[in-house]
Amino acid sequence: MGTFRRSLGVRGPFSKSSRLCDKKQYCQAATEQLTGTFTPFMEMLQNRRMEASRSVLVQVQSAQSYKQLFTYCESMGKVKCMFHYTEGPEPMHFIIVEFESESDVANVLRSSSHIQENHSVPVASQFLWFRAASKKFGTLKASAQAKLTLENGTDVRNENDLKAALLRCNTVSEQIEQLHSLTKLNDVGHRLRFLTAKQVETTISGMFPRICAFPFGSSVNGFGKMGCDLDIVLRLTQDRENDNSRLIYHCKAASGSERSTNQRNMETIGDLIHLFLPGCNQVRRILQARVPIIKYYQHLTNVECDLSMSNMTGIYMSDFLYMMGEIDPRVRPLVFAIRKWAKEVNLTNSSPGRWITNFSLTLLVLAFLQKPLQSPPILPTLNRLAKLAGPNDYYVTEDGIDCTFLRDLTKLKFQTQNTSSLEVLLREFFEYYAQFDFGAKAICLNEAVAISKPEHSPLYIVNPIEKGLNVSKNVSIEEVEKFKIEVRNAAWILESKERNYESTGLIAILDSKDHIKNKLPFVLSAKNNRLMEISELFDEEERNSDPNVEYKND
Ligand code: CTP
Ligand code: MG
Repeated sequence: MGTFRRSLGVRGPFSKSSRLCDKKQYCQAATEQLTGTFTPFMEMLQNRRMEASRSVLVQVQSAQSYKQLFTYCESMGKVKCMFHYTEGPEPMHFIIVEFESESDVANVLRSSSHIQENHSVPVASQFLWFRAASKKFGTLKASAQAKLTLENGTDVRNENDLKAALLRCNTVSEQIEQLHSLTKLNDVGHRLRFLTAKQVETTISGMFPRICAFPFGSSVNGFGKMGCDLDIVLRLTQDRENDNSRLIYHCKAASGSERSTNQRNMETIGDLIHLFLPGCNQVRRILQARVPIIKYYQHLTNVECDLSMSNMTGIYMSDFLYMMGEIDPRVRPLVFAIRKWAKEVNLTNSSPGRWITNFSLTLLVLAFLQKPLQSPPILPTLNRLAKLAGPNDYYVTEDGIDCTFLRDLTKLKFQTQNTSSLEVLLREFFEYYAQFDFGAKAICLNEAVAISKPEHSPLYIVNPIEKGLNVSKNVSIEEVEKFKIEVRNAAWILESKERNYESTGLIAILDSKDHIKNKLPFVLSAKNNRLMEISELFDEEERNSDPNVEYKND
Protein backbone atom coordinates (compact mmCIF):
# COMPACT_ATOMS: atom_id res chain seq x y z
CA MET A 1 0.00 0.00 0.00
CA GLY A 2 1.36 3.43 -0.87
CA THR A 3 1.48 6.33 1.52
CA PHE A 4 -0.78 9.29 1.73
CA ARG A 5 1.24 12.16 0.33
CA ARG A 6 -0.09 14.76 2.72
CA SER A 7 1.80 13.06 5.52
CA LEU A 8 5.04 14.21 3.91
CA GLY A 9 4.18 17.78 4.97
CA VAL A 10 6.18 19.28 7.81
CA ARG A 11 3.38 20.45 10.08
CA GLY A 12 -0.20 19.45 10.95
CA PRO A 13 -2.86 18.33 8.55
CA PHE A 14 -3.31 21.30 6.23
CA SER A 15 -0.95 24.08 5.39
CA LYS A 16 -2.59 27.51 5.52
CA SER A 17 -2.21 27.99 1.79
CA SER A 18 -3.97 24.74 0.89
CA ARG A 19 -6.94 25.70 3.06
CA LEU A 20 -7.17 29.11 1.42
CA CYS A 21 -6.93 27.48 -1.94
CA ASP A 22 -9.86 25.19 -1.04
CA LYS A 23 -11.99 28.13 0.10
CA LYS A 24 -11.39 30.10 -3.06
CA GLN A 25 -12.03 27.06 -5.17
CA TYR A 26 -15.37 26.23 -3.53
CA CYS A 27 -16.69 29.81 -3.57
CA GLN A 28 -15.85 30.20 -7.22
CA ALA A 29 -17.21 26.79 -8.17
CA ALA A 30 -20.48 27.38 -6.28
CA THR A 31 -20.97 30.70 -8.07
CA GLU A 32 -20.16 29.15 -11.45
CA GLN A 33 -22.47 26.23 -10.75
CA LEU A 34 -25.37 28.58 -10.07
CA THR A 35 -24.76 31.14 -12.79
CA GLY A 36 -23.47 28.71 -15.42
CA THR A 37 -25.45 26.48 -17.75
CA PHE A 38 -27.95 24.86 -15.44
CA THR A 39 -30.25 22.29 -17.03
CA PRO A 40 -33.47 21.82 -15.03
CA PHE A 41 -34.19 18.21 -14.04
CA MET A 42 -37.23 17.70 -16.29
CA GLU A 43 -35.30 19.09 -19.27
CA MET A 44 -32.33 16.82 -18.52
CA LEU A 45 -34.73 13.85 -18.25
CA GLN A 46 -36.35 14.76 -21.56
CA ASN A 47 -32.96 15.18 -23.30
CA ARG A 48 -31.82 11.77 -22.11
CA ARG A 49 -35.12 10.16 -23.14
CA MET A 50 -34.80 11.66 -26.63
CA GLU A 51 -31.19 10.47 -26.83
CA ALA A 52 -32.42 6.93 -26.02
CA SER A 53 -35.13 7.23 -28.70
CA ARG A 54 -32.40 8.00 -31.24
CA SER A 55 -30.25 5.04 -30.12
CA VAL A 56 -29.96 1.29 -30.55
CA LEU A 57 -27.88 -1.17 -28.56
CA VAL A 58 -26.03 -3.70 -30.73
CA GLN A 59 -24.16 -6.78 -29.58
CA VAL A 60 -21.04 -7.23 -31.70
CA GLN A 61 -18.16 -9.70 -32.10
CA SER A 62 -15.52 -7.31 -30.77
CA ALA A 63 -14.75 -3.61 -30.52
CA GLN A 64 -13.24 -3.87 -34.01
CA SER A 65 -16.70 -4.53 -35.46
CA TYR A 66 -17.48 -0.86 -35.07
CA LYS A 67 -16.22 0.13 -38.51
CA GLN A 68 -18.46 -2.40 -40.28
CA LEU A 69 -21.37 -1.55 -38.04
CA PHE A 70 -20.91 2.13 -38.74
CA THR A 71 -20.94 1.57 -42.52
CA TYR A 72 -24.00 -0.68 -42.24
CA CYS A 73 -25.93 1.80 -40.09
CA GLU A 74 -24.96 4.76 -42.28
CA SER A 75 -26.80 3.07 -45.17
CA MET A 76 -30.02 3.58 -43.15
CA GLY A 77 -29.47 6.85 -41.32
CA LYS A 78 -26.95 9.35 -40.06
CA VAL A 79 -24.86 8.07 -37.18
CA LYS A 80 -24.09 10.74 -34.56
CA CYS A 81 -21.78 8.75 -32.27
CA MET A 82 -21.00 5.25 -31.03
CA PHE A 83 -20.00 3.95 -27.60
CA HIS A 84 -18.39 0.58 -26.98
CA TYR A 85 -18.74 -1.32 -23.73
CA THR A 86 -18.21 -4.85 -22.48
CA GLU A 87 -20.18 -6.96 -20.10
CA GLY A 88 -19.47 -10.18 -18.18
CA PRO A 89 -16.34 -12.20 -17.34
CA GLU A 90 -15.93 -13.56 -20.90
CA PRO A 91 -16.82 -10.18 -22.16
CA MET A 92 -19.73 -9.74 -24.50
CA HIS A 93 -19.16 -6.65 -26.62
CA PHE A 94 -21.80 -4.03 -27.24
CA ILE A 95 -22.00 -0.79 -29.15
CA ILE A 96 -24.56 1.93 -28.49
CA VAL A 97 -25.25 3.69 -31.78
CA GLU A 98 -26.83 7.11 -31.51
CA PHE A 99 -28.39 8.43 -34.73
CA GLU A 100 -29.17 12.01 -35.68
CA SER A 101 -32.92 11.39 -35.60
CA GLU A 102 -35.56 8.99 -34.33
CA SER A 103 -36.64 8.23 -37.90
CA ASP A 104 -33.17 6.74 -38.54
CA VAL A 105 -33.83 4.28 -35.72
CA ALA A 106 -37.23 3.47 -37.24
CA ASN A 107 -35.43 2.68 -40.55
CA VAL A 108 -32.94 0.45 -38.76
CA LEU A 109 -35.67 -1.44 -36.89
CA ARG A 110 -37.73 -1.85 -40.09
CA SER A 111 -34.79 -3.42 -41.85
CA SER A 112 -33.84 -5.72 -38.93
CA SER A 113 -35.06 -9.31 -38.80
CA HIS A 114 -35.64 -12.21 -36.43
CA ILE A 115 -33.85 -15.53 -36.46
CA GLN A 116 -36.43 -18.30 -36.95
CA GLU A 117 -34.81 -20.61 -34.43
CA ASN A 118 -35.37 -21.93 -30.92
CA HIS A 119 -39.05 -20.90 -30.96
CA SER A 120 -37.98 -17.45 -29.85
CA VAL A 121 -40.66 -14.80 -29.44
CA PRO A 122 -40.33 -12.36 -32.37
CA VAL A 123 -40.24 -9.14 -30.32
CA ALA A 124 -38.93 -5.93 -31.87
CA SER A 125 -36.95 -3.61 -29.62
CA GLN A 126 -33.88 -1.39 -29.80
CA PHE A 127 -31.73 -4.31 -28.55
CA LEU A 128 -30.09 -6.01 -31.57
CA TRP A 129 -27.09 -8.09 -32.56
CA PHE A 130 -24.85 -7.70 -35.56
CA ARG A 131 -24.36 -11.04 -37.21
CA ALA A 132 -21.11 -11.91 -38.95
CA ALA A 133 -21.01 -11.07 -42.65
CA SER A 134 -21.39 -13.98 -45.06
CA LYS A 135 -21.26 -14.12 -48.83
CA LYS A 136 -25.06 -13.90 -48.87
CA PHE A 137 -24.84 -10.28 -47.63
CA GLY A 138 -22.15 -9.24 -50.14
CA THR A 139 -18.99 -7.45 -49.07
CA LEU A 140 -19.16 -4.38 -46.93
CA LYS A 141 -16.40 -1.84 -47.12
CA ALA A 142 -15.65 -0.86 -43.56
CA SER A 143 -15.54 2.85 -42.97
CA ALA A 144 -12.97 4.35 -40.64
CA GLN A 145 -15.03 7.47 -40.02
CA ALA A 146 -16.89 6.16 -37.00
CA LYS A 147 -16.70 8.24 -33.86
CA LEU A 148 -16.32 5.65 -31.16
CA THR A 149 -15.87 6.35 -27.48
CA LEU A 150 -14.43 3.55 -25.43
CA GLU A 151 -16.08 3.90 -22.09
CA ASN A 152 -17.15 0.99 -19.97
CA GLY A 153 -20.54 1.90 -18.58
CA THR A 154 -20.96 -1.24 -16.53
CA ASP A 155 -17.51 -1.56 -15.02
CA VAL A 156 -17.57 -1.12 -11.27
CA ARG A 157 -14.12 0.15 -10.35
CA ASN A 158 -11.84 -2.33 -8.67
CA GLU A 159 -11.38 -1.52 -4.96
CA ASN A 160 -7.59 -1.78 -5.07
CA ASP A 161 -7.31 0.67 -7.97
CA LEU A 162 -9.62 3.01 -6.12
CA LYS A 163 -7.54 2.81 -2.95
CA ALA A 164 -4.33 3.39 -4.91
CA ALA A 165 -5.88 6.45 -6.58
CA LEU A 166 -6.97 7.83 -3.21
CA LEU A 167 -3.51 7.35 -1.77
CA ARG A 168 -2.05 9.45 -4.58
CA CYS A 169 -4.11 12.48 -3.45
CA ASN A 170 -2.60 15.34 -1.49
CA THR A 171 -5.48 16.12 0.86
CA VAL A 172 -8.58 14.46 2.29
CA SER A 173 -10.71 16.93 0.34
CA GLU A 174 -8.97 15.83 -2.84
CA GLN A 175 -9.62 12.20 -1.91
CA ILE A 176 -13.32 12.91 -1.50
CA GLU A 177 -13.44 14.60 -4.90
CA GLN A 178 -11.47 11.75 -6.46
CA LEU A 179 -13.78 9.13 -4.97
CA HIS A 180 -16.71 10.97 -6.51
CA SER A 181 -15.21 11.38 -9.95
CA LEU A 182 -13.97 7.77 -10.16
CA THR A 183 -17.15 6.08 -8.99
CA LYS A 184 -20.02 8.26 -10.25
CA LEU A 185 -22.25 6.97 -13.02
CA ASN A 186 -20.69 7.87 -16.37
CA ASP A 187 -22.28 8.84 -19.67
CA VAL A 188 -22.52 5.25 -20.98
CA GLY A 189 -24.07 4.21 -17.66
CA HIS A 190 -26.74 6.88 -18.13
CA ARG A 191 -27.37 5.90 -21.75
CA LEU A 192 -27.74 2.21 -20.83
CA ARG A 193 -30.27 3.03 -18.12
CA PHE A 194 -32.39 5.20 -20.39
CA LEU A 195 -32.27 2.50 -23.10
CA THR A 196 -33.38 -0.07 -20.52
CA ALA A 197 -36.38 2.10 -19.58
CA LYS A 198 -37.12 2.74 -23.26
CA GLN A 199 -37.29 -1.00 -23.92
CA VAL A 200 -40.32 -1.47 -21.62
CA GLU A 201 -41.95 1.64 -23.04
CA THR A 202 -41.55 0.50 -26.67
CA THR A 203 -42.85 -2.99 -25.97
CA ILE A 204 -46.14 -1.80 -24.52
CA SER A 205 -46.59 1.30 -26.68
CA GLY A 206 -48.82 -0.47 -29.24
CA MET A 207 -51.69 -0.56 -26.74
CA PHE A 208 -50.67 2.56 -24.85
CA PRO A 209 -49.21 5.04 -27.37
CA ARG A 210 -48.78 7.74 -24.69
CA ILE A 211 -46.88 5.52 -22.32
CA CYS A 212 -43.82 6.93 -20.55
CA ALA A 213 -41.17 5.01 -18.61
CA PHE A 214 -39.43 7.64 -16.48
CA PRO A 215 -36.17 6.69 -14.78
CA PHE A 216 -35.88 8.17 -11.29
CA GLY A 217 -33.76 7.65 -8.16
CA SER A 218 -29.98 7.55 -8.18
CA SER A 219 -29.77 6.84 -11.94
CA VAL A 220 -30.88 10.40 -12.61
CA ASN A 221 -30.61 12.47 -9.42
CA GLY A 222 -26.82 12.92 -9.66
CA PHE A 223 -26.08 10.68 -6.66
CA GLY A 224 -25.77 7.44 -8.64
CA LYS A 225 -22.60 5.43 -8.76
CA MET A 226 -21.48 2.93 -11.38
CA GLY A 227 -23.60 -0.19 -11.11
CA CYS A 228 -26.49 1.53 -9.28
CA ASP A 229 -29.97 0.14 -9.80
CA LEU A 230 -32.54 1.68 -12.13
CA ASP A 231 -35.82 2.87 -10.65
CA ILE A 232 -38.55 3.28 -13.26
CA VAL A 233 -42.04 4.66 -12.99
CA LEU A 234 -44.24 3.50 -15.83
CA ARG A 235 -47.14 5.80 -16.70
CA LEU A 236 -49.67 4.46 -19.19
CA THR A 237 -50.85 7.94 -20.11
CA GLN A 238 -49.81 11.59 -19.71
CA ASP A 239 -51.20 13.69 -16.85
CA ARG A 240 -52.80 16.28 -19.09
CA GLU A 241 -54.17 14.89 -22.33
CA ASN A 242 -56.22 16.68 -24.98
CA ASP A 243 -58.74 18.04 -22.45
CA ASN A 244 -60.82 19.85 -25.08
CA SER A 245 -61.25 16.96 -27.46
CA ARG A 246 -64.83 15.83 -28.14
CA LEU A 247 -63.71 12.37 -29.26
CA ILE A 248 -63.01 10.16 -26.29
CA TYR A 249 -61.47 6.68 -26.35
CA HIS A 250 -63.66 3.78 -25.36
CA CYS A 251 -61.90 2.01 -22.49
CA LYS A 252 -62.54 -0.95 -20.23
CA ALA A 253 -63.88 0.08 -16.84
CA ALA A 254 -61.59 -0.98 -14.00
CA SER A 255 -63.21 -3.13 -11.34
CA GLY A 256 -62.04 -3.01 -7.74
CA SER A 257 -59.99 -0.33 -5.97
CA GLU A 258 -57.30 1.71 -7.68
CA ARG A 259 -54.68 -0.22 -5.74
CA SER A 260 -55.97 -3.66 -6.69
CA THR A 261 -56.31 -2.61 -10.35
CA ASN A 262 -52.76 -1.32 -10.25
CA GLN A 263 -51.54 -4.59 -8.70
CA ARG A 264 -53.30 -6.65 -11.40
CA ASN A 265 -51.87 -4.48 -14.18
CA MET A 266 -48.41 -4.86 -12.69
CA GLU A 267 -48.84 -8.63 -12.52
CA THR A 268 -49.51 -8.61 -16.28
CA ILE A 269 -46.62 -6.27 -17.03
CA GLY A 270 -44.37 -8.55 -14.97
CA ASP A 271 -45.46 -11.44 -17.22
CA LEU A 272 -44.77 -9.39 -20.37
CA ILE A 273 -41.28 -8.54 -19.14
CA HIS A 274 -40.63 -12.15 -18.17
CA LEU A 275 -41.95 -13.71 -21.39
CA PHE A 276 -41.18 -11.20 -24.10
CA LEU A 277 -38.45 -8.71 -23.27
CA PRO A 278 -35.03 -9.74 -24.61
CA GLY A 279 -32.35 -9.72 -21.90
CA CYS A 280 -34.80 -9.45 -18.99
CA ASN A 281 -34.86 -12.18 -16.37
CA GLN A 282 -35.18 -12.82 -12.61
CA VAL A 283 -38.58 -11.11 -12.57
CA ARG A 284 -39.92 -10.76 -9.01
CA ARG A 285 -43.21 -9.13 -8.11
CA ILE A 286 -43.46 -7.30 -4.76
CA LEU A 287 -47.04 -6.17 -5.03
CA GLN A 288 -48.04 -5.96 -1.36
CA ALA A 289 -45.57 -3.14 -0.56
CA ARG A 290 -46.86 0.42 -0.03
CA VAL A 291 -45.52 1.16 -3.50
CA PRO A 292 -45.91 -2.13 -5.43
CA ILE A 293 -42.85 -2.91 -7.59
CA ILE A 294 -41.61 -5.40 -10.16
CA LYS A 295 -37.93 -6.20 -9.86
CA TYR A 296 -36.02 -7.61 -12.81
CA TYR A 297 -32.52 -7.86 -14.20
CA GLN A 298 -31.65 -6.66 -17.71
CA HIS A 299 -28.50 -8.64 -18.44
CA LEU A 300 -27.67 -6.99 -21.80
CA THR A 301 -27.17 -3.68 -20.01
CA ASN A 302 -26.29 -5.24 -16.63
CA VAL A 303 -28.90 -3.18 -14.84
CA GLU A 304 -31.08 -4.21 -11.88
CA CYS A 305 -34.50 -2.60 -12.32
CA ASP A 306 -37.29 -1.65 -9.90
CA LEU A 307 -40.43 -0.78 -11.83
CA SER A 308 -43.45 0.89 -10.24
CA MET A 309 -46.57 2.39 -11.77
CA SER A 310 -47.96 4.85 -9.29
CA ASN A 311 -45.00 6.66 -7.81
CA MET A 312 -44.83 10.11 -9.42
CA THR A 313 -43.56 11.57 -6.14
CA GLY A 314 -40.38 9.52 -6.71
CA ILE A 315 -39.77 11.66 -9.81
CA TYR A 316 -40.30 14.93 -7.92
CA MET A 317 -38.10 13.69 -5.11
CA SER A 318 -35.37 12.99 -7.67
CA ASP A 319 -35.90 16.50 -9.05
CA PHE A 320 -35.39 17.92 -5.54
CA LEU A 321 -32.24 15.87 -4.88
CA TYR A 322 -30.85 16.72 -8.33
CA MET A 323 -31.27 20.42 -7.58
CA MET A 324 -29.63 20.13 -4.18
CA GLY A 325 -26.64 18.52 -5.90
CA GLU A 326 -26.52 21.31 -8.48
CA ILE A 327 -26.51 24.13 -5.93
CA ASP A 328 -23.01 23.55 -4.57
CA PRO A 329 -20.12 21.43 -5.93
CA ARG A 330 -19.36 19.96 -2.50
CA VAL A 331 -22.77 18.28 -2.09
CA ARG A 332 -22.34 15.25 -4.36
CA PRO A 333 -18.72 14.40 -3.38
CA LEU A 334 -19.69 14.57 0.31
CA VAL A 335 -22.71 12.30 -0.22
CA PHE A 336 -20.50 9.81 -2.09
CA ALA A 337 -17.97 9.81 0.77
CA ILE A 338 -20.68 9.19 3.38
CA ARG A 339 -22.36 6.46 1.33
CA LYS A 340 -19.01 4.76 0.79
CA TRP A 341 -18.16 5.01 4.50
CA ALA A 342 -21.59 3.58 5.43
CA LYS A 343 -21.09 0.65 3.05
CA GLU A 344 -17.60 -0.09 4.39
CA VAL A 345 -18.72 -0.11 8.03
CA ASN A 346 -21.74 -2.28 7.12
CA LEU A 347 -24.40 0.29 7.90
CA THR A 348 -25.99 -0.23 4.48
CA ASN A 349 -26.81 -3.52 2.87
CA SER A 350 -27.65 -4.38 -0.72
CA SER A 351 -30.74 -6.39 0.30
CA PRO A 352 -33.72 -4.49 1.71
CA GLY A 353 -34.27 -4.74 5.46
CA ARG A 354 -33.90 -2.92 8.74
CA TRP A 355 -30.80 -1.11 7.50
CA ILE A 356 -30.44 2.54 6.68
CA THR A 357 -30.66 3.07 2.90
CA ASN A 358 -28.53 5.17 0.57
CA PHE A 359 -31.54 7.39 0.04
CA SER A 360 -31.92 8.04 3.79
CA LEU A 361 -28.17 8.70 4.06
CA THR A 362 -28.41 11.25 1.26
CA LEU A 363 -31.17 13.05 3.13
CA LEU A 364 -29.05 13.01 6.31
CA VAL A 365 -26.20 14.71 4.44
CA LEU A 366 -28.49 17.29 2.82
CA ALA A 367 -30.16 18.06 6.16
CA PHE A 368 -26.72 18.57 7.71
CA LEU A 369 -25.65 20.88 4.86
CA GLN A 370 -28.72 23.00 5.58
CA LYS A 371 -27.47 23.51 9.14
CA PRO A 372 -23.75 22.73 9.60
CA LEU A 373 -22.26 23.07 13.06
CA GLN A 374 -20.09 26.16 13.04
CA SER A 375 -20.61 27.73 9.66
CA PRO A 376 -23.38 29.22 7.51
CA PRO A 377 -25.72 26.82 5.63
CA ILE A 378 -24.65 25.51 2.24
CA LEU A 379 -28.13 24.45 1.11
CA PRO A 380 -31.52 26.19 1.36
CA THR A 381 -34.49 24.43 2.95
CA LEU A 382 -37.30 23.01 0.83
CA ASN A 383 -39.72 25.55 2.35
CA ARG A 384 -37.53 28.31 1.01
CA LEU A 385 -37.50 26.75 -2.47
CA ALA A 386 -41.30 26.39 -2.26
CA LYS A 387 -41.65 30.11 -1.43
CA LEU A 388 -39.56 31.06 -4.48
CA ALA A 389 -41.62 28.88 -6.87
CA GLY A 390 -42.97 30.53 -10.02
CA PRO A 391 -46.03 29.60 -12.15
CA ASN A 392 -44.06 26.94 -14.09
CA ASP A 393 -43.06 25.17 -10.89
CA TYR A 394 -46.61 24.22 -9.91
CA TYR A 395 -46.91 20.42 -9.68
CA VAL A 396 -49.59 18.55 -7.76
CA THR A 397 -49.88 14.76 -8.18
CA GLU A 398 -53.15 12.95 -8.95
CA ASP A 399 -53.51 12.12 -5.25
CA GLY A 400 -53.09 15.76 -4.28
CA ILE A 401 -49.47 15.81 -3.12
CA ASP A 402 -48.02 19.26 -3.60
CA CYS A 403 -44.61 19.06 -5.28
CA THR A 404 -44.29 22.78 -5.99
CA PHE A 405 -40.82 24.30 -5.50
CA LEU A 406 -38.42 26.45 -7.49
CA ARG A 407 -36.88 24.49 -10.39
CA ASP A 408 -34.84 27.19 -12.07
CA LEU A 409 -31.78 27.59 -9.91
CA THR A 410 -30.65 30.68 -11.75
CA LYS A 411 -33.54 32.36 -9.87
CA LEU A 412 -32.34 31.15 -6.49
CA LYS A 413 -31.38 34.12 -4.38
CA PHE A 414 -29.15 32.11 -2.12
CA GLN A 415 -25.40 32.37 -2.03
CA THR A 416 -23.66 30.46 0.69
CA GLN A 417 -20.99 32.17 2.74
CA ASN A 418 -19.70 28.79 3.81
CA THR A 419 -16.18 28.13 2.55
CA SER A 420 -15.39 24.95 4.51
CA SER A 421 -13.36 22.31 2.74
CA LEU A 422 -14.79 18.85 2.12
CA GLU A 423 -12.58 17.46 4.86
CA VAL A 424 -14.03 19.92 7.38
CA LEU A 425 -17.57 19.15 6.23
CA LEU A 426 -16.95 15.42 6.52
CA ARG A 427 -15.75 15.85 10.09
CA GLU A 428 -18.63 18.19 10.94
CA PHE A 429 -21.12 15.68 9.49
CA PHE A 430 -19.92 13.03 11.91
CA GLU A 431 -19.86 15.48 14.82
CA TYR A 432 -23.36 16.74 13.98
CA TYR A 433 -24.88 13.27 14.07
CA ALA A 434 -22.74 12.16 17.02
CA GLN A 435 -24.56 14.88 19.00
CA PHE A 436 -27.98 14.52 17.39
CA ASP A 437 -30.85 13.57 19.69
CA PHE A 438 -32.31 10.69 17.65
CA GLY A 439 -34.61 9.78 20.57
CA ALA A 440 -36.58 13.03 20.48
CA LYS A 441 -35.85 14.72 17.17
CA ALA A 442 -36.72 14.09 13.54
CA ILE A 443 -34.51 15.06 10.62
CA CYS A 444 -36.38 17.47 8.41
CA LEU A 445 -35.29 19.13 5.17
CA ASN A 446 -38.31 21.41 4.96
CA GLU A 447 -37.36 23.54 7.95
CA ALA A 448 -34.12 25.12 9.11
CA VAL A 449 -34.29 23.40 12.51
CA ALA A 450 -34.64 19.79 13.68
CA ILE A 451 -38.26 19.14 14.75
CA SER A 452 -39.75 16.86 17.41
CA LYS A 453 -40.53 13.32 16.31
CA PRO A 454 -44.21 12.87 15.40
CA GLU A 455 -44.04 9.20 16.48
CA HIS A 456 -41.63 6.75 18.02
CA SER A 457 -39.79 5.20 15.08
CA PRO A 458 -36.12 4.72 16.06
CA LEU A 459 -35.05 6.96 13.16
CA TYR A 460 -37.40 9.58 11.80
CA ILE A 461 -36.54 11.39 8.56
CA VAL A 462 -39.49 13.43 7.35
CA ASN A 463 -40.21 12.69 3.70
CA PRO A 464 -39.67 16.19 2.26
CA ILE A 465 -42.38 15.75 -0.39
CA GLU A 466 -44.93 13.59 1.46
CA LYS A 467 -44.50 15.18 4.86
CA GLY A 468 -46.69 12.65 6.71
CA LEU A 469 -44.28 9.80 5.87
CA ASN A 470 -41.09 8.67 7.53
CA VAL A 471 -38.47 7.79 4.91
CA SER A 472 -36.56 5.61 7.39
CA LYS A 473 -39.49 3.73 8.92
CA ASN A 474 -37.76 0.44 8.15
CA VAL A 475 -34.70 1.18 10.32
CA SER A 476 -34.51 -0.80 13.58
CA ILE A 477 -33.35 0.50 16.95
CA GLU A 478 -30.20 -1.67 16.70
CA GLU A 479 -29.27 -0.11 13.39
CA VAL A 480 -29.74 3.40 14.80
CA GLU A 481 -27.47 2.49 17.71
CA LYS A 482 -24.92 1.11 15.29
CA PHE A 483 -25.12 4.33 13.27
CA LYS A 484 -24.52 6.39 16.39
CA ILE A 485 -21.50 4.31 17.34
CA GLU A 486 -20.06 4.49 13.84
CA VAL A 487 -20.44 8.28 13.51
CA ARG A 488 -18.74 8.70 16.88
CA ASN A 489 -15.94 6.39 15.83
CA ALA A 490 -15.46 8.24 12.55
CA ALA A 491 -15.51 11.62 14.33
CA TRP A 492 -13.00 10.25 16.80
CA ILE A 493 -10.63 9.09 14.04
CA LEU A 494 -10.87 12.43 12.25
CA GLU A 495 -10.40 14.44 15.39
CA SER A 496 -7.66 12.37 16.95
CA LYS A 497 -5.53 12.77 13.82
CA GLU A 498 -3.63 9.73 14.95
CA ARG A 499 -1.02 8.03 12.81
CA ASN A 500 -3.04 5.85 10.51
CA TYR A 501 -5.29 8.74 9.58
CA GLU A 502 -2.24 10.89 8.89
CA SER A 503 -0.93 8.35 6.41
CA THR A 504 -4.08 7.30 4.58
CA GLY A 505 -6.67 10.06 5.05
CA LEU A 506 -10.16 9.00 3.96
CA ILE A 507 -9.13 5.35 3.84
CA ALA A 508 -8.69 5.32 7.62
CA ILE A 509 -12.40 6.04 7.95
CA LEU A 510 -13.41 3.63 5.22
CA ASP A 511 -11.40 0.90 6.92
CA SER A 512 -12.50 2.00 10.35
CA LYS A 513 -14.32 -1.20 11.24
CA ASP A 514 -11.11 -3.26 11.19
CA HIS A 515 -9.12 -0.31 12.34
CA ILE A 516 -11.27 0.44 15.38
CA LYS A 517 -11.49 -3.23 16.18
CA ASN A 518 -7.71 -3.32 16.40
CA LYS A 519 -7.14 -0.04 18.18
CA LEU A 520 -9.95 0.43 20.71
CA PRO A 521 -10.27 -2.16 23.43
CA PHE A 522 -13.64 -0.95 24.75
CA VAL A 523 -16.54 1.13 23.55
CA LEU A 524 -19.57 2.45 25.36
CA SER A 525 -22.47 0.53 23.89
CA ALA A 526 -25.33 2.92 23.36
CA LYS A 527 -27.71 -0.02 23.35
CA ASN A 528 -27.35 -1.13 26.92
CA ASN A 529 -25.10 1.62 28.22
CA ARG A 530 -22.34 -0.65 29.39
CA LEU A 531 -18.73 -1.00 28.39
CA MET A 532 -18.42 -3.82 25.91
CA GLU A 533 -15.27 -5.21 24.51
CA ILE A 534 -15.24 -4.00 20.92
CA SER A 535 -14.96 -7.52 19.46
CA GLU A 536 -18.01 -8.53 21.52
CA LEU A 537 -19.96 -5.67 19.97
CA PHE A 538 -18.99 -6.57 16.43
CA ASP A 539 -19.79 -10.22 17.00
CA GLU A 540 -23.20 -9.24 18.28
CA GLU A 541 -23.79 -7.04 15.23
CA GLU A 542 -22.80 -9.82 12.90
CA ARG A 543 -25.23 -12.15 14.65
CA ASN A 544 -28.00 -9.56 14.31
CA SER A 545 -27.68 -9.00 10.59
CA ASP A 546 -29.16 -12.10 9.09
CA PRO A 547 -28.98 -11.59 5.31
CA ASN A 548 -31.53 -14.36 4.73
CA VAL A 549 -34.33 -12.36 6.30
CA GLU A 550 -36.23 -10.32 3.72
CA TYR A 551 -37.99 -7.18 4.85
CA LYS A 552 -40.37 -5.04 2.93
CA ASN A 553 -40.16 -1.30 3.34
CA ASP A 554 -43.26 0.45 4.62
N1 CTP B 1 -38.00 7.11 -2.52
C1 CTP B 1 -38.89 7.87 -1.78
N2 CTP B 1 -39.23 7.47 -0.52
C2 CTP B 1 -38.70 6.36 0.04
C3 CTP B 1 -37.79 5.58 -0.69
C4 CTP B 1 -37.45 5.98 -1.98
O1 CTP B 1 -39.36 8.88 -2.28
N3 CTP B 1 -39.06 5.99 1.29
C5 CTP B 1 -37.66 7.55 -3.89
C6 CTP B 1 -36.46 8.51 -3.92
O2 CTP B 1 -36.63 9.41 -4.97
C7 CTP B 1 -35.30 7.57 -4.24
C8 CTP B 1 -35.99 6.60 -5.18
O3 CTP B 1 -37.30 6.43 -4.66
O4 CTP B 1 -34.22 8.25 -4.81
C9 CTP B 1 -35.33 5.28 -5.36
O5 CTP B 1 -35.14 4.63 -4.12
P1 CTP B 1 -33.85 3.76 -3.87
O6 CTP B 1 -33.56 2.94 -5.08
O7 CTP B 1 -34.01 3.06 -2.57
O8 CTP B 1 -32.71 4.87 -3.64
P2 CTP B 1 -31.72 5.56 -4.64
O9 CTP B 1 -31.75 7.03 -4.32
O10 CTP B 1 -32.03 5.21 -6.05
O11 CTP B 1 -30.31 4.99 -4.21
P3 CTP B 1 -29.57 3.62 -4.66
O12 CTP B 1 -28.36 4.05 -5.41
O13 CTP B 1 -29.24 2.91 -3.39
O14 CTP B 1 -30.54 2.83 -5.49
MG1 MG C 1 -32.25 3.24 -6.75
